[in-house]
Amino acid sequence: MSFLIISPKKDPKAWVEALKAEAPDLDLEVYPQVKDPSKVEYVLSWRHPHGIYRDFKNLKVIASMGAGIDHIISDKEIPEHIQITRVVDAQLTKDMSVFVLSLILEHLRNLNEHHCSSEWKPKTYGRPENTQVGILGMGVLGVGVAEKLIRNKFNVTGWSRTKKEILGVTTYHGDEQLQDFLEDSKILVNLLPLTSETKNILNKHLFEKLPEGAYVINVARGEHLIEDDLIEMINTGHLTGAALDVFRKEPLPAAHPFWKNKKIKVSPHIASITHPKSVVPQILENYERMKEGKDLKNVVDREKEY
Ligand code: OXD
Repeated sequence: MSFLIISPKKDPKAWVEALKAEAPDLDLEVYPQVKDPSKVEYVLSWRHPHGIYRDFKNLKVIASMGAGIDHIISDKEIPEHIQITRVVDAQLTKDMSVFVLSLILEHLRNLNEHHCSSEWKPKTYGRPENTQVGILGMGVLGVGVAEKLIRNKFNVTGWSRTKKEILGVTTYHGDEQLQDFLEDSKILVNLLPLTSETKNILNKHLFEKLPEGAYVINVARGEHLIEDDLIEMINTGHLTGAALDVFRKEPLPAAHPFWKNKKIKVSPHIASITHPKSVVPQILENYERMKEGKDLKNVVDREKEY
């Protein structure tokens, strides 16, 4: 039985090292160097070439290298019996919450505007206790961000597909409560999983429901956002701006209008990066569980797509 890494667009060296350090006897291969595809039962995957999983007849588990699994389930040719797992890691959650907090503080203090104006012109600034932040998506990362913001005295609301109760957070759920949630979200943070339902959710109709002068932060996936709608709503003044860490096309092309827009802050998908050393123990634990026929941890519900 072999353990295969498939990561054609990201150098898997750090993963190989971390796996070898934890499990020196692991029969480890790195795609495309696979001796016998029929021996592969477990794959650690990041942005695999779609369609290839058909060739691994005895594959049982595809483990994502990150928290997101959209890059796996968007491949419609993966047989139903194959289990897909995601990474749930305290460090990822911490990194994400610090990143979102820093973007919000920078926005409240107008740091980008001051820098771009080249003028000595102090502006009034917002304070956490007077600021309502709405988080779209109350999974592990959404809850982690909410807790961080609450500790920093923000007023936090959260929206999710199904009902959730989270201490200190006013929660909303389902389509029927989305409008109420949006109406009060002066700062909107998107942390939804990318699914067929949430694709393009950050569009003009949603932005119109936000209060005048709202600010949008997208740290989930580029495909959540209709880019032209964002630019239009910033140009009309309905939105004061946005901070974007993820894009429909990554790397964001040099000629993309986001780079030059002073009201849009761009970062290169660095909100929260998986550290192989921190995550390898949970990957190997699931590998052992698979071998022993036990239930795996952090399994994705393929019907819900997250
Ligand atoms: C992830 C990511 O899904 O880095 O972990 O986007």
